[in-house]
Amino acid sequence: MNIIPINASLKYDVMIESGLLARSGELIRKVVKKGRAAVITDSTVDALYAETVMASLADAGCDPMKYVFPAGEASKNIMTLSGILEHLAEHRLTRADFIVALGGGVTGDMAGFAASCYLRGIPFVQLPTTFLAAVDSSVGGKTAVDLHAGKNLCGAFHQPSLVLCDTKTLDTLIPEIFADGAAEALKAGILRDESLFAKMEQGSYKADIDSVIGRCVEIKAQLVEEDERDTGARQLLNLGHTMGHAAEKISDFSLTHGHAVAMGMAAITRAAEKLGVCEPCYERVCAALTANDLPTRCPYSAEELANAALSDKKRSGGRINLVLPKKIGECFLYPVDVTEVERIFALGLEE
Ligand SMILES: NC(=O)c1ccc[n+]([C@@H]2O[C@H](COP(=O)([O-])OP(=O)(O)OC[C@H]3O[C@@H](n4cnc5c(N)ncnc54)[C@H](O)[C@@H]3O)[C@@H](O)[C@H]2O)c1
Ligand SMILES: [Zn+2]
Repeated sequence: MNIIPINASLKYDVMIESGLLARSGELIRKVVKKGRAAVITDSTVDALYAETVMASLADAGCDPMKYVFPAGEASKNIMTLSGILEHLAEHRLTRADFIVALGGGVTGDMAGFAASCYLRGIPFVQLPTTFLAAVDSSVGGKTAVDLHAGKNLCGAFHQPSLVLCDTKTLDTLIPEIFADGAAEALKAGILRDESLFAKMEQGSYKADIDSVIGRCVEIKAQLVEEDERDTGARQLLNLGHTMGHAAEKISDFSLTHGHAVAMGMAAITRAAEKLGVCEPCYERVCAALTANDLPTRCPYSAEELANAALSDKKRSGGRINLVLPKKIGECFLYPVDVTEVERIFALGLEE
């Protein structure tokens, strides 16, 4: 098994191996020594994996209960959160009990947020079942729901007590959802590791998915350990996200997160080249995105995107930190005045 320790304000392990869900109860019990488990999952993952997890938790004496919400980003809101919290209260969960987030990034973000605020905070465990959740969202303790005004606008920092990544669950992902994870994994490569990026350029990495996930988790862990509260280095993880979140919002979330981030990464790389701060790598980034079934062209105008981006939380005062690549494997924060964002987006979108 690949085990990666995370040294955040709470220290925990990310365990990566095929077949872990069947052992989840026993592994969770070693870390969360007492209490009942409240499993939170979505309708799709419920049908595929909840039975295995519930049985394993029951065997380990965790007396599990379950809350299921409709799959999809449209559920990541305060109404669903409220349903989860009422469910926990109806079952009289106490601070001795804990939440198990079984699913993708939507489940992890929302169940994690419920754990952060129910009774002012109870422990939770992440069981990521999408490639995106495995390489990115299950680690680092950012939890949230979306508001009408934008994505992830209501949330908390709350680290999980354990992350169990059963790589066998990735076998049931449809290609489009698998590709979303590839976008975040390519992001990790562009940020910190040229050899990870090179591996991702070739479809053959899928045979070695455990090590790709492990490397992405290590990269994320470094940034989270350096800056858990997202005031500096952690912001690098937003590569492609300022435009990506804006595109998601304009599309009314018909664009998935990873696809939107892919468009954002291509555009910001092109903009960085034109600004003269980046080695020529736009073509290579686009080729890698295409090889991973991801888009490279954003269908929206720079004006639309800037307007949508600037109502986002990443605006702080009159300045915004964009993340620009210097080369594959190295990126930097590039603070700009909010009035410049549209021009920089336009540089990235021009033919
Ligand atoms: N907290 C963070 O640090 C962080 C980082 C990146 C992304 N995110 C968030 O993560 C979310 C996106 O995550 P996601 O792409 O995992 O979305 P998701 O949780 O909606 O999962 C995508 C779809 O895949 C289905 N699914 C999940 N596991 C499956 C499996 N094993 N087999 C078949 N189908 C399965 C789900 O039911 C859903 O329909 C966004 O809301 C984004 O903002 C958070
Ligand atoms: Zn992301």
